[in-house]
Amino acid sequence: MTPQLQRSTPKASTTPKPKRSKSKASEESMATPDDCAASWLLYLSLAAKCGGDHPGRLAGLLSVCAAAFAVTCILHWCFPGGAAWGRWWLTRRLKGSLLPGPRGLPLIGSMWLMTGLAHRKLAAEAARLGGRAKRLMAFSLGETRMVVAAHPDVAREILNSPAFADRPIKESAYGLLFHRAIGFAPHGAYWRALRRVASTHLFSPWQITASAPQRAVIASQMVTALVGAGAGVEVRRVLRRASLHNVMWSVFGRRYDLDSNKESEEVRELSHLVDEGYDLLGQLNWSDHLPWLARFDLQGTRARCSGLVPRVNRFVRRIIDDHRSAAASAGVKDFTDVLLSLQGGDKLADADMIAVLWEMVFRGTDTVAVLMEWVLARLVLHRDVQARVHEELDRVVGRDRAVDESDAASLAYLHAVIKETLRVHPPGPLLSWARLATSDVRVDGFLIPAGTTAMVNMWAITHDPDVWAEPEEFRPERFVEGQPAAELSVMGSDLRLAPFGAGRRSCPGKSLAMATVAFWLATLLHELEFLPSPDPAGGVNLGETLRLSCEMAAPLAVTPRPRRPAA
Ligand code: HEM
Repeated sequence: MTPQLQRSTPKASTTPKPKRSKSKASEESMATPDDCAASWLLYLSLAAKCGGDHPGRLAGLLSVCAAAFAVTCILHWCFPGGAAWGRWWLTRRLKGSLLPGPRGLPLIGSMWLMTGLAHRKLAAEAARLGGRAKRLMAFSLGETRMVVAAHPDVAREILNSPAFADRPIKESAYGLLFHRAIGFAPHGAYWRALRRVASTHLFSPWQITASAPQRAVIASQMVTALVGAGAGVEVRRVLRRASLHNVMWSVFGRRYDLDSNKESEEVRELSHLVDEGYDLLGQLNWSDHLPWLARFDLQGTRARCSGLVPRVNRFVRRIIDDHRSAAASAGVKDFTDVLLSLQGGDKLADADMIAVLWEMVFRGTDTVAVLMEWVLARLVLHRDVQARVHEELDRVVGRDRAVDESDAASLAYLHAVIKETLRVHPPGPLLSWARLATSDVRVDGFLIPAGTTAMVNMWAITHDPDVWAEPEEFRPERFVEGQPAAELSVMGSDLRLAPFGAGRRSCPGKSLAMATVAFWLATLLHELEFLPSPDPAGGVNLGETLRLSCEMAAPLAVTPRPRRPAA
């Protein structure tokens, strides 16, 4: 690694606005509050100079400036894609084809498209505009130029292009120091080094196999928690806690019990920290796109980050200190030990280590639990599919023993169910975190300027009837042997279904996630039958809510019934 790794982390909690990477793209990505203030000062000083001592003349000139400002706004707004795109086209005077897209409103652009179920709103807007917009659509979020791809070929161009290897950094991510962790670190030596360490020590096939016993312990805790739970139990708490415990075990070597009666103060505190972080990272922060709003912190994002960071620091530092004092006798057991054992140029500053460890807890928890809840919801709704999974488990494993992780490879139908759930309910419908163009680049024939934020609407692709026949139907059979999609990999090589993204910034935890989800579901379904809850709706409401991941809006409630005498 390079000496860059030693760079100390700025104090985000006191930082008024997110600093961006020093790339050309970042500088161009949006006007800063200072830029806005400068234009206003120019207008006003011009008015003052020309107005002299006559209040009447000054007022007149101020009105002219206001009118000039309004005309400029309208001129910018006239362009397809709205004001942020218009400003770029006018200042650069570039010739070329204009990207199709909604204009939105003059100052805020199409901000409402990113509220609520943004993946559905963006898809509906592209469908309304029709034509090329269904492949690639431009829009403005305040002063940020955005594009969203909704076609596999265009998505591939973006995700695999070196020009999109950076991410735009949100104020909340910066406030939580995530620019020092893998997900938001600018593309470069520091990011490459972190990914290499994580790939070798957390996500390698060897590490995934080595951590199988830990997943088995947690799987049997889940079964115990559900067997005694009775009718109409909400599975979300159990799934979330299981995921959290799993990741805490791998990352910090901490072991907890799933039994809510034995829940420690540490777990309760941890859950609060994770929930608060989700909320902050998942929300649309208007100041990210309207820099002149940033100093007011209207949504309280900066204040909440400032409150959260010291608590996270205290929590993680305590664990790191425990590791340091045990290091001599214990050897390398978990990811914290790995980071502490890095030497020379590889060594991380404590603040960076906290960011990296915390991000793993964060990313590893919700995604897995959200996906499992969607799978179980579908199995309760489609009892015939659940019966087929049970048949397969009886054939491959047999009722006289528990599932072993090595059985998972033979459970082809269960894998088809997981793939179909990833298609119908991708946990990151907009691939969670966007990409940033670091240089001018052509996508689908259009020029995308440096500094543009690019998103892929994976949900729109997986619900496009031109890509998937009868996309609204839940049919795992499309992925079974003999069907055209049987061999489709969800790991990023086929953009018709790439829930983990693709290219150099694709999800590094995808193999671990798939291994965990497949084994835990196999265990739960081998031990239990999932029946509807006694409530009139049967406990399944497929409504969505989009936070950092796309979750079920109403928690799934089920009635688990043991299938094996041992359960
Ligand atoms: C079902 C489970 C999961 C899903 C659907 C998922 C999805 C994603 C997606 C869509 C991205 C962005 C990819 C892109 O920009 O092309 C991502 C990035 C990332 N994921 Fe996952 N993920 C899952 C599980 C995990 C797990 C278990 C971990 C770690 C314990 C993890 C760690 C990360 C990290 C660190 C990044 C940032 C990568 C970078 O920017 O270089 N994910 N994930």
